[in-house]
Amino acid sequence: MCGIVAAVTRYNIINILLEGIKKLEYRGYDSSGLAVVDHKNNIIRIRCVGKVNELIKEVNKKKISGHIGMAHTRWATHGKISKENTHPHISSNIIVVHNGVINNNSILRVFLKKQGYIFYSDTDTEVIAHLLHWEQNKKKDSLQQTIRKSIKKLHGNYSMVVIDKNNPFQLIAARSGSPLVIGLGEEGNFIASDQIALLHITKRFVYLEEGDVAIVKKKEINIFNRKNFKIERKVTISNLQYKSAKKGKYSHYMEKEIYEQPISIRNTLKHYLKENNSIYFPELESKEKNIFYHAEHIQIVACGTSYNAALVSKYWFESLANIPCDVEIASEFSSRKLAVRKKSFLITLSQSGETADTLSALRYAKKLGYLGNLTICNMEGSSLVKESDFHILTQAGIEIGVASTKSFTTQLTVLLMLVAKIADFKKKYFISKKIIHSLSTLPSQIEKILKKNELIKTIANKLSNKKNILFLGRGEYYPIAIEGALKIKEIAYIHAEAYPAGELKHGPLALIDENMTVIIIAPKNLLLEKIQNNIKEICLRGGLIYVFSDQDFDCEDNVHIIKLPKVQELIAPIFYIIPLQLLAYYIALSKGKNIDQPRHLAKSVTVE
Ligand code: G6P
Repeated sequence: MCGIVAAVTRYNIINILLEGIKKLEYRGYDSSGLAVVDHKNNIIRIRCVGKVNELIKEVNKKKISGHIGMAHTRWATHGKISKENTHPHISSNIIVVHNGVINNNSILRVFLKKQGYIFYSDTDTEVIAHLLHWEQNKKKDSLQQTIRKSIKKLHGNYSMVVIDKNNPFQLIAARSGSPLVIGLGEEGNFIASDQIALLHITKRFVYLEEGDVAIVKKKEINIFNRKNFKIERKVTISNLQYKSAKKGKYSHYMEKEIYEQPISIRNTLKHYLKENNSIYFPELESKEKNIFYHAEHIQIVACGTSYNAALVSKYWFESLANIPCDVEIASEFSSRKLAVRKKSFLITLSQSGETADTLSALRYAKKLGYLGNLTICNMEGSSLVKESDFHILTQAGIEIGVASTKSFTTQLTVLLMLVAKIADFKKKYFISKKIIHSLSTLPSQIEKILKKNELIKTIANKLSNKKNILFLGRGEYYPIAIEGALKIKEIAYIHAEAYPAGELKHGPLALIDENMTVIIIAPKNLLLEKIQNNIKEICLRGGLIYVFSDQDFDCEDNVHIIKLPKVQELIAPIFYIIPLQLLAYYIALSKGKNIDQPRHLAKSVTVE
């Protein structure tokens, strides 16, 4: 779960590497490093513990330059956070940055030590560096052959970039497990874990596929597939806007992304609605009848916030499209023997399209008997998009904040559109019409709630010293409660737990006293009376209650109502997450936490 950027050009690459690695900080921010081969053919390496800014300061102090080099931002998996463990790792003339985990690194380490190699770090990456050096010196092979031979000995994931200082005109990239993309420039070429890192220099990208090895020179790239055959990979022109990766007037990316939700939902709707207001998913159009017409069950697999979006959609698939739906956490799904339901269709949900657990689940599911698979994803060209039969891209734009916000609401928008599409197949046209109409009102409703930020800020200030918060909801508001609790855990470091309100009496009620804060999501619907009873039960036991609702309640002093505008029931779950995102944001802000890069977390979890 690290970020890689590398460049070989006619000009000095230091700024390209620094700017690129700064943009990849969302992938890991324990420590970062850079290495270049300078004009005297020396390897210059600088490594720092902490944020990428530390590296930038250090590099700027030293005034180094080079035409070929690489940088890396680390999220520790093997070895503690220390300068020694920070990439790049070097073995004599070989320089390596790596993203992944080498499972047999201990065995290789013992072997390499016996060959006389000295290890300065605890990382599996240093094992790769020494292994490459050892292989290269055994037969004096080219670096490309050396890499081919070495990767056969590596068990696990090893997306990497390598430079041999004895041939400082080429970068060699090998992809396994984590993504690597080549950026094509006019006077040089580049490699990165994510196109975001290179958008400031190019829009032309070539995505490497699993097992590919690429030789990247200033004016030329050559790619060899898993079987070592030379292969042409498609050049993609990116539509992503570099400016959408900047914070603009906002203090944090998360704040910006919360406020961008009306626009990202509008963009998603516009993308998939035709002029006559019918839904059009281009990827599915020719075959969708075959898939969804015949599907008798939907299985959704995802992690984190995407999993919570999937949980909400289960209610929609079943109640609106009358199709049974199950949702499972990806790591659980792929680690057990599954009994696949008859005529089941698999959906994976992911912002990044690179989450290792979700990818493994897809790969596992492909060996089982699903009718087919679809990914709903925010990242064009990502591994999930490439490996799935079909894809629908959410139009959230680049999301940088580790805690997902706009990708959650655009996922829900697409999921609800998919439900409408299935309802159409089942000739329930009134349902799809209602969904489309409700969704069209959503962006303006969200704009209204975003204007309530001052009210939410006041509540956040009152909650910032709390140790525990219990979130309750019923029906589709239970997953919304889970997502609200997750946001608070992720960025405000408060223990927050979500329960279906109906389960209160089966355990959590024992926790209620004057120190327990309870947040309840209670819009007007058929379950409102039941939730009112829950409020009374908590109230009697002294719990401090905050209710997010469009209703007035007759209540005691310890119950605070946050009155929200009325919205159409179909879209209300999407609407109710917005105040909870704001609440988490303002609590974290008042506690002075690092909102965009919470401790120990990363945006894209590319290791299982
Ligand atoms: C990480 C991120 C979460 C995200 C989850 C799933 O845990 O910190 O924000 O929800 O991964 O990521 P995905 O890209 O698959 O949606």
